[in-house]
Amino acid sequence: MPNILLVGNGAREHAMAEAIMRSKEKPLLFSYMKANNPGIASLSAKTKMGSYADPSAIILFARENKIEFAVIGPEDPLGNGVVDALAEAGIPAVGPTKSLARLETSKAFTRNLVSKYNIPGNPQFKVFTDIDGVEVFLNKLESVVIKPDGLTGGKGVLVQGDHFATKQEALTLCKQILSESNSLIVEEKFDGEEFSLQCLCDGKTIVGTPLVQDHKRRFDGDRGPNTGGMGSYSLPDHSMPFLKPSDIEEGLEITRQVAAALWSETGSPYKGVMYGGFIATKNGTKLLEYNARFGDPEAMNILPLLKTDFVEICQHIIAGTLDKLKIEFEPKATVCKYVVPKGYGLPADHPDAASSKAKIEVGDVGKARLYYSSVDKKEDGLYLSSSRAIGIVGIADTLDEARLIAEEGVKAVKGPVDYREDIGTDALIQKRIDHMKKIRKE
Ligand code: GLY
Repeated sequence: MPNILLVGNGAREHAMAEAIMRSKEKPLLFSYMKANNPGIASLSAKTKMGSYADPSAIILFARENKIEFAVIGPEDPLGNGVVDALAEAGIPAVGPTKSLARLETSKAFTRNLVSKYNIPGNPQFKVFTDIDGVEVFLNKLESVVIKPDGLTGGKGVLVQGDHFATKQEALTLCKQILSESNSLIVEEKFDGEEFSLQCLCDGKTIVGTPLVQDHKRRFDGDRGPNTGGMGSYSLPDHSMPFLKPSDIEEGLEITRQVAAALWSETGSPYKGVMYGGFIATKNGTKLLEYNARFGDPEAMNILPLLKTDFVEICQHIIAGTLDKLKIEFEPKATVCKYVVPKGYGLPADHPDAASSKAKIEVGDVGKARLYYSSVDKKEDGLYLSSSRAIGIVGIADTLDEARLIAEEGVKAVKGPVDYREDIGTDALIQKRIDHMKKIRKE
């Protein structure tokens, strides 16, 4: 009966808590959260509220509760060195140290690492610490992407054609970013279809999990501002209908080589999740970015499908013996739809912005699974925050059945909320397939 510490308070961590508690080892869960997630709290023996920027508070909570190992959900505690502090206290963790978490916390670090170790997948790119040379490089590329070098919650990446039109506008944005941030990356924009490949890694072995496609844009038809992710789907064959087997193998191979490069570069094995945001292009699979954790919403697609005991997986990651474990997932389709406040992602002066802080009612979600994200549980009920509120997941033999289960679940949430109806529809998926056919000239 191991005592396990979970750090994090989102829907991703609710799905992680559920996976931990399904273990045959009958663990006791101790949860450290920056805000009270009622779903995680209901699964926990004890909870503690505190900041992710305070590793000493996390260590104290871990020591008081004789924690065997910790599992870290979000990127903030990783970037703040929580895994390093736990290691100093003799508590192993699933999650990289601060140095290894640069895989996510510094986009420049990862681009330079991939380049230094001759790993395929990088675009043409340059890292700038001042504006010298930016204009020349912008003009060398056909179409560009601009990224501040740091954590941006998935919302800081600026793409030509989506966020700005001309190179002149790109230059103005680069100047603005450099006035607020130490460095930025300018890179070539790829044309293709994106997919999330979340790999488990013990330092030397990586294990791919079912592929997922996330939907960043706020509104149906991929319109509106980028968000943290409005929902996602996965298929029973664990692939994506617009990918060739070689696209997936390339993503896995890039991740294998990056794991090895991280060890060579830092002298330490990476233990945790390497979540690659990849894009299939006419020239094969390219790397958009890595995250040092499970995706949110993507964790909600894959963790409920795990047939292998998640606690056992964590123990093998820590011991460096993932190669000894057969990791299996149910051959099912999943659709996750995030219920968000109507004003989510919209400017503060938008008429719907007031929807955050409103009260919601959650009825019977039927066959769907419900994962709480940013909700505030008060004595008189559940309140929205300004962020994503609840992840609703349908799981079934076919994508359409999974989508209908998620749709029915979403309708049980009453209040000033919104969601994307098109996630998991045949029409949206056909659009992706047609896009890839056109790119590949098939
Ligand atoms: N799915 C986006 C993220 O987890 O960053």
